[in-house]
Amino acid sequence: MAFFGYIGVFMCGIIGFSGKLDAKKVILDGLTTLEYRGYDSCGVCLVDTDHKFSIVKSTGKVVDLLPKVDEIITKETHVGIGHTRWATHGGVITENAHPHHAGLVNLIHNGIIENYLSLREQYKLDNALEGGTDTEIVANILNLIYKKNKNEPLSSIKKLTDIIKGTFAFLIMFEDRPDEVYAIKHVSPLVCAKSNDGSFIASDITALMPYTKEFSVIEEGTIVCADKDSLKAYDLKTLKEISLKTETITWSVDTAKKDGYNHFMLKEIHEQCTALENTIKPRIIDFNIDLSNDGIEDNAYEFFKKIEKIHIVACGTALHAGKVGASVFQDVLNIPVDDYIASEYRYSNTLTNDKTLVIVLSQSGETIDTLASLEKAKSKGAKVISIVNVKGSTIARNSDYVLYTHAGPEIAVASTKAYTVQVATIYLLLTKIASVRSAIDRSYEKSVCENLYASIENIKTALQKENEIKDIVKYISSSHDAFYIGRGLDYVFSLEGALKLKEISYIHTEAYAAGELKHGTIALIEDGTPVIAVCTQSDIATKFLSNVKEVKARNAYVILIITDGIKYEKDLADIVIKIDKVDDKFSVFPVAVITQLIAYYTAYTKGLDIDKPRNLAKSVTVE
Ligand code: F6R
Repeated sequence: MAFFGYIGVFMCGIIGFSGKLDAKKVILDGLTTLEYRGYDSCGVCLVDTDHKFSIVKSTGKVVDLLPKVDEIITKETHVGIGHTRWATHGGVITENAHPHHAGLVNLIHNGIIENYLSLREQYKLDNALEGGTDTEIVANILNLIYKKNKNEPLSSIKKLTDIIKGTFAFLIMFEDRPDEVYAIKHVSPLVCAKSNDGSFIASDITALMPYTKEFSVIEEGTIVCADKDSLKAYDLKTLKEISLKTETITWSVDTAKKDGYNHFMLKEIHEQCTALENTIKPRIIDFNIDLSNDGIEDNAYEFFKKIEKIHIVACGTALHAGKVGASVFQDVLNIPVDDYIASEYRYSNTLTNDKTLVIVLSQSGETIDTLASLEKAKSKGAKVISIVNVKGSTIARNSDYVLYTHAGPEIAVASTKAYTVQVATIYLLLTKIASVRSAIDRSYEKSVCENLYASIENIKTALQKENEIKDIVKYISSSHDAFYIGRGLDYVFSLEGALKLKEISYIHTEAYAAGELKHGTIALIEDGTPVIAVCTQSDIATKFLSNVKEVKARNAYVILIITDGIKYEKDLADIVIKIDKVDDKFSVFPVAVITQLIAYYTAYTKGLDIDKPRNLAKSVTVE
């Protein structure tokens, strides 16, 4: 056995199909769509009309796999599974790509099997393994169980799940059942759908959108069997057939296409006016916030009245959206509103109790740390409201209440439009809570609604700066380091600006609270270091502009993003980008657009793979 170190296969995209269509095309198109979940390696297992099973897999992206599949599989195929992988450790090598084959079993996996070492020993698999994945061990064990179980698929899968520990979404094909694809999951997400063309199973609905709008979430403890005529579900305990609950997706398939843009990220930046309008419009009636269609009415109001604190929990960009909400509304609500990194929250003593409202934010609705925080909060008696973009996702389903954002599918790994609508939704929610608690008067609520509507226009104006920004980034793109600075809310915007810039341009970028610079960080400012200074908070602008002067005095290259009307000295900055005058609490929207465009065009100038930045994946489904 070649040993390459055992590999956790974490945030992968998986798809299976059985039906009338060309399975090769369905699987490869699906993998292309799902590639944002991981792109270290990919592979397919397809069955041709002679019932011959072929596996083709390789490191790299789906586009490079295509010619290999065409070369090796020349006959028609109508059944198959495919996998695109994101690995955390160990080599990214073909042997570790999925599918894995053992005897009669072909298997793909999203998740991690924790007891792989003891299973390898127990089943004496050393000589059977070619690569170094936990998944290969599972494929081998399932093959042994299947043989022992007289080739009975359901009870074999049940036995497998009895002995493995960890998280998983498996798609399985048995070679003596060439029309069928089996699925079982624990924690890692899976959805399935049936159309006139056949049966589909995938990690998320984006891969199914070209075929159907009706789909079912595969629940815990359910085995699904897809064949060309049927999609059946079985209870894992009893192995009796059960029914699947169908949901409808409102996203259009066109929203998952690039529409002439060079990258999904740019398209998604431009979709923010529509996303914002779609998210706020159904929730604002006559300039009153109405969340009754989200189930937030009398029962929730009773709880809002008794809460003593609010915890906002999320990861990455979603956390930054939450931080904006916390910064704006703590004063308004006059109770502690604290934000937490989900991977910390789940393991710390956060004093969560039955008088805590926990708000979790997640585009994908699958981020494992956010999900674990949600479960922890519920176990402490807190109520959880989630702000989620993907309908039917695990976080949405497991929350007490869910407010869906209507951004449509976000394909680029770097989040843009999802952030904007998360901010808008948390503003609506926290204003509603303030109103129920009589912490604000009617005019405050009305002004939030008016400002949110006005933000649609402000985003439009900010988008018009695109050409200006294209020129500005030439300087940043040749730098190794950059800084974002701001004070108050501008510091919070800076955190997101810096994350966006670093994750797609690979330029080391940090965000600092400008008042902190003198306590260490200013030592890093050299001749020409780019400093992007965000100045939209009128109450603290004078103090902030003094901090900008301090970096300018050390010869930083200053790009000042400033609200029109705030006065500044002409020689303070090398470049000035003005945003329209807006209420300070709502500058988040135009600033987001400007900082997203800075990140996008910097990465574009550097010729990078913007939609799929290195080492990242869109959906982080294991901690
Ligand atoms: C950055 C980005 C990530 C996500 C984070 C949480 O551009 O997209 O930081 O915001 O991984 O993901 P969700 O929102 O799906 O929980």
